[in-house]
This record gives sequence, structure tokens and C-alpha cells, in this order.
Amino acid sequence: MSQPLLEATNISHSFDYPLFRNIEFSIEPTQSAAIVGRSGSGKSTLLHIFSTFMKPNEGNVTLFGKDLYSQNDAAIEALRRYDIGIIFQFHYLFKGMSALENIGVATMLSAEQIDNTILKKLEIDHLMSHKTSELSGGEQQRVSIARVLSKKPRIIFADEPTGNLDKETADLVMDVLIDYIRETGAALVLVTHDENMAARCDKIYTLEDQALS
Ligand SMILES: Nc1ncnc2c1ncn2[C@@H]1O[C@H](COP(=O)(O)OP(=O)(O)OP(=O)(O)O)[C@@H](O)[C@H]1O
Ligand SMILES: [Mg+2]
Repeated sequence: MSQPLLEATNISHSFDYPLFRNIEFSIEPTQSAAIVGRSGSGKSTLLHIFSTFMKPNEGNVTLFGKDLYSQNDAAIEALRRYDIGIIFQFHYLFKGMSALENIGVATMLSAEQIDNTILKKLEIDHLMSHKTSELSGGEQQRVSIARVLSKKPRIIFADEPTGNLDKETADLVMDVLIDYIRETGAALVLVTHDENMAARCDKIYTLEDQALS
């Protein structure tokens, strides 16, 4: 067994009421894990905790072998910039820019090159000169996924990444994500309501009754 890329221990969090308690989760290189559960069960909150954007009331998160909560802001900023890839259901592309410029911003920030094979696999390579506003919703979604992958993250957190896509395009996106982690030794944590997408992951966890099992 290799060292986990992410290890979360004893995570508990409450907003107005307790959301979850004593959650344990870990994921190793090349592994994929789906997190499913009812709307409001806390899946997105858990993903925010795993990906450095929220601190839980209790518990610890270790990313790439280092305890998250003992690192300074600059180190966390570097993790976000170079090592963590986040894909949301609703993408955040710059509207006035072309697809290529949108991807270029991410690769410039992370000092990586744009990967044409990823653009081809996502079937968006011919759209690179189009402005965001000239792309369909699903095309925009795939550009934002290419943008995340082009920075070569070591772990990907995806929150309903295929929610707006037809089945065929959703399968294409899953192919690309799974190929990416296999080829690079990264890991994928996928939150989804789509059973078909969850079934393509190595493990499926359910967040229910404040517990992840
Ligand atoms: N910043 C916040 N402040 C207060 N309550 C919050 C906050 N963020 C989320 N919540 C509440 O926590 C609960 C879980 O929210 P979360 O977004 O994690 O659920 P989810 O499982 O991702 O749901 P969905 O499947 O609908 O996306 C919800 O009841 C939500 O209203
Ligand atoms: Mg959610």
C-alpha cells in the first residue's frame, strides 16, 4: 500500500445542527472514491473540508503526508495552486476570454503546459478560439475540466461535475478523469447523485445519518 494522498480523521462539523461526526476517509494514488447521499447530507461541506477551503469543528486533514492545520497561509495557497484540482457543477470561466485563454490562465499560474491530448479527449480542441459566451453549457463545463487537469493536480475534488451533461458526454468526462489519475498517480474524490458515475469509482461511500460508510 502506498501512502495516502489525503487522510481525514475524526472529522465532525455542525452548522445550526450537527452535520456529521467522526468521519474517517483516505485515498491513495490512482484511486477514485465516490461520495453519495441525500441532498443536504453534507457532501459539499465535506469536500470543502478535504480540499482546504473549510476547517471542521473537530478532526484532522493530512494532504500529501502533511497535516493541513499546522501549515501557514502561503503553504496552503501553494497547495491550492499546484496540487489540488477542484471541479464544480457550475464552472467559473472568465466570460470575455476564449476557451484557450481560460485554460492558459490556470497553466500560467501553475507553471504547466496546456495538454492537447486532454483537449482532444474532451472533444473541445476545435473550440479553443471560441469565447466562453459562444460555447454551450456542456462545452463550457468541459473547458473548465480541461483547465483543472491542465494544471496537473495531484488530487481532484469534483462536486457533481457531470450534473449538466448528457450520459454520453458524462461518460466521456469520467473516462478522462479516470485516465488522468491512472496515468499521473493522482486521486479523484467525486461527489455525485448519478449512480452510473459513482459505479465507475473504486469505492462508493454514502453520507447518511451524520456518518460516512
Ligand atoms: N456556510 C454554511 N452555513 C450554514 N449552513 C450551511 C453552510 N453550508 C452548508 N450549510 C448547510 O449544511 C447542510 C449540508 O450542505 P451541503 O451543501 O454540504 O449538502 P450536500 O450534501 O452537498 O447537498 P446537495 O446534494 O444538495 O448538494 C445543508 O443543510 C446546508 O444548508
Ligand atoms: Mg452539494
